[in-house]
Amino acid sequence: MSEISKAMDRSRRERGLKEETSPGVGRVLSPLIKRRMSHWDAEQYLALASEIALSLPDLDSRAIVFACAVSGEGTSTVAREFATTVAERGESPSVLIDANLRRPTLHEAFRVRRDPGLTDHILGGADLSECVCETEIPRLSVIPAGRPVIAPPRVAGDEQVGLLIARLKKDFRFVILDAPPILSFREAVQYGSVADGVVTIVRAGHTRRQLHAHALDLLEEARANVLGTVLNRRRFYIPKFVYDRI
Ligand SMILES: Nc1ncnc2c1ncn2[C@@H]1O[C@H](COP(=O)(O)OP(=O)(O)OP(=O)(O)O)[C@@H](O)[C@H]1O
Ligand SMILES: [Mg+2]
Repeated sequence: MSEISKAMDRSRRERGLKEETSPGVGRVLSPLIKRRMSHWDAEQYLALASEIALSLPDLDSRAIVFACAVSGEGTSTVAREFATTVAERGESPSVLIDANLRRPTLHEAFRVRRDPGLTDHILGGADLSECVCETEIPRLSVIPAGRPVIAPPRVAGDEQVGLLIARLKKDFRFVILDAPPILSFREAVQYGSVADGVVTIVRAGHTRRQLHAHALDLLEEARANVLGTVLNRRRFYIPKFVYDRI
């Protein structure tokens, strides 16, 4: 059993003990509570997982960066829902890293502590097993952002990031990085150049085509492997069951 698996077992046991001693505390809410995912959404995420697997056929485990061109188009939502679906329904052990040190959200979404996390491991030398948090979703772990840092590109550009990804790939089928917007900060491109692939997200009817194209150029210049784009918040102008039959 690897170091990370042992830590996850320990955290599961600790969680069990805590629940026994705090009977007033209810079950931690699933992050999906904020936006209930439909069966159709889940199918789309599973199809995305298959497409990623087909794009990287030689790998058993894949490290994928999720990023938008600009802020607020849905990176964290898509990364979170993708990770949840592949872990829960796809039965692939997965870890979701909060690599958006500008606006970390995963610790709140999954109700885990914020630190120790990514920054503590990369810059502070914190043990990886201390930074991996178990979630309520079966087979899904989270590495929260960690303590705030003044210069996030120092974290993203550190050679430890590649080593971290390689270590996580031994234990998880998907290593998913929730990155900050590509055009606003350097980190998404930095992560993209060490991960196996990048998935960009555009918000339907909202993301400007030129901005997305510019973001793709930056990724390609850094030799990131852009696998494709998720169209988020697509609106159905005719009932969805009609689309399903077309
Ligand atoms: N598919 C969706 N359906 C409904 N709401 C969505 C969807 N995707 C994102 N949102 C909402 O849009 C807002 C921004 O989404 P999110 O936080 O995922 O964006 P982001 O790209 O991670 O932003 P940031 O650049 O701040 O990290 C949130 O309120 C989220 O709930
Ligand atoms: Mg986000």
